[in-house]
Amino acid sequence: MTTVFSGIQPSGKLTIGNYLGALRNFVRLQEEAECLFCIVDLHAITVQQNPVELRQNTRELAALYLACGISQKSATLFVQSHVSAHAELGWLLQCIAHYGELGRMTQFKDKSAQKEVVTAGLFTYPALMAADILLYQTDLVPVGEDQKQHLELTRDLAIRFNNRFGETFTVPEPYIPKIGGKIMSLEDPLKKMSKSDESAGAYLSMLDEPDVLRKKVARAVTDSGRDVRFDEENKPAVSNLMTIYALCANVTMAEVEKRYEGQGYGPFKKDLAEVVVGVLEPIQQRYRDILASSELDDILREGAAKAEQMAAPTLKNVKDKLGFIVPA
Ligand code: AMP
Ligand code: TRP
Repeated sequence: MTTVFSGIQPSGKLTIGNYLGALRNFVRLQEEAECLFCIVDLHAITVQQNPVELRQNTRELAALYLACGISQKSATLFVQSHVSAHAELGWLLQCIAHYGELGRMTQFKDKSAQKEVVTAGLFTYPALMAADILLYQTDLVPVGEDQKQHLELTRDLAIRFNNRFGETFTVPEPYIPKIGGKIMSLEDPLKKMSKSDESAGAYLSMLDEPDVLRKKVARAVTDSGRDVRFDEENKPAVSNLMTIYALCANVTMAEVEKRYEGQGYGPFKKDLAEVVVGVLEPIQQRYRDILASSELDDILREGAAKAEQMAAPTLKNVKDKLGFIVPA
């Protein structure tokens, strides 16, 4: 059976980019593979976090995973810091990773640019991500396009370790959707949609009220001309909106073009807002119910126990291969 692992940081509200690029695929994969989904709080603290907010964001992200359809029966949902093997293997892989290759990571370069303080953890972040994945002998990692470079590093570390110490890790493959792997900002279609954008109009939060979603879609920038035509090079803004439409309505791009032929942007954007609300509103309703119930803590406790058990043999094997002695 294929093993799938992915993680999301508990660092604020998720966007429709996170949903279409990652979460939605998690829900599909859980039907056909052994899936582990993680709330990566150890990664979140690579930049300064307010403890009260971190605690709240962690519970909220767990509720959102469940609201999107992740089920405890089909997948293992857990918090990274509950399974100490992540931090442990993270350290061991920091000693396999090279300074130079970590310095080449574009996410590190972006996140550290113009920052007064850059933590050592932000720099070694990809080694911890590799540990998350390699602990479970993962075959497939569903992520958005921005994580591709981290996945390549994970593969390099697995191969390096295997070559030096003998077969230990499965070398994982990325699973990046062809459509939706990179949803762009509503205000600047050349920039990735991100929850940390300083302008809230740039992203559709999964938890935005329906009327807020409608307003943001109405204000989204479009391109010159009036054709609803998919052409990422010449019509990046409209192509991005069409991507969101096609994925939310479960139709092909050709079908979107056909529906709005000769109609201009107005009717298209109006319908797009309703298609987005149609997907997010039921998730928001379930999210509120789950957050208010007590089931969340039980699910996370069970998930951690299961993940711990699954991680243990790999960690033991790695320590043995490295030459650590077992306490008598
Ligand atoms: P993060 O919020 O950075 O922890 O990302 C969680 C997941 O969502 C990762 O798999 C990202 O690659 C994915 N993701 C983030 N932003 C986008 C986006 N704008 N389009 C598609 N996927 C995204
Ligand atoms: N680095 C990922 C992000 O920022 C989050 C992450 C941490 C992750 N560990 C992972 C994703 C393991 C996939 C697999 O989105």
